[in-house]
Amino acid sequence: MQANVVVVGSLNMDLVARAQRLPRGGETLVGETFVTVPGGKGANQAVAAARLGAQVAMVGCVGDDAYGQQLRQALAAEQIDCQAVSIAAGVSSGVALIVVDAASQNAIVIIAGGNGQLLPESVQRFDALLQQADVIICQLEVPMATVAYTLERGRALGKTVILNPAPASGPLPAEWFANIDYLIPNESEAEALSGLPVNDLESAKAAATRLLAMGVGKVIVTLGAQGALFADAQAFRHFPAPVVKPVDTTAAGDTFVGGFAAALARGEEEGAAIAFGQRAAALSVTRAGAQPSIPHLAELQP
Ligand code: RIB
Repeated sequence: MQANVVVVGSLNMDLVARAQRLPRGGETLVGETFVTVPGGKGANQAVAAARLGAQVAMVGCVGDDAYGQQLRQALAAEQIDCQAVSIAAGVSSGVALIVVDAASQNAIVIIAGGNGQLLPESVQRFDALLQQADVIICQLEVPMATVAYTLERGRALGKTVILNPAPASGPLPAEWFANIDYLIPNESEAEALSGLPVNDLESAKAAATRLLAMGVGKVIVTLGAQGALFADAQAFRHFPAPVVKPVDTTAAGDTFVGGFAAALARGEEEGAAIAFGQRAAALSVTRAGAQPSIPHLAELQP
């Protein structure tokens, strides 16, 4: 089966504790529940695109441990092509330590493990997958050189290239921007990338304007309950968020990116693709966990 969406990115096992609130530095808190669920921004976006209608291939790397096997199996169970998910000897798989509080906010620490072994050569080896794709998606949980290579190769092949710059702690290399069709940061990532504070629609417009000036084609700033801001050289468009009662926001952004990519890949116009991604993300926040929370296409059809 030919993949029309290819995700180059991370796979993590998420170790998720729920507690009334997030702990302060130096504090020990008594939590309520603990679960282990497949996650990682790359894998979550791959699962979202697959459940929401795309044929998906994943390019990634896990460690040679039990988590690595479970992470690959989780993708294979979604009919995601895993031929390019390699197993690195002598390293652990990526893990994410996540605490979710009673208000459904989370705090996450990630350990790269196998994700750190995903090199540009690992992507090069599976160039045939990139050649077949319509849409290529990257995030920032794998080495920067690998992201840079993928963006450049995607642009050279004339594909639609999406970068979800997560997690971001500072500006991106300037030469990346011309290779990105859609840059999809959340508020804090838009702030880190643009150097401007982002906390509402107006400040998101200022940050998006600066990012466009840096050379990126189109920007979509996801603003949680405040919706999403689309910006290109012509205009801004605000997409209000569906109103839901949140249970766990983990992977909401990933669900948006995967849903948006799946809709683009089947030829939907970008405004419709954004609204589709938002509906999927809204449903995901009403459920716990990363991959378990991601909806299927049938749940979104009227
Ligand atoms: O975006 C959510 C994801 O971030 C989690 O699944 C976790 O693995 C971290 O990568």
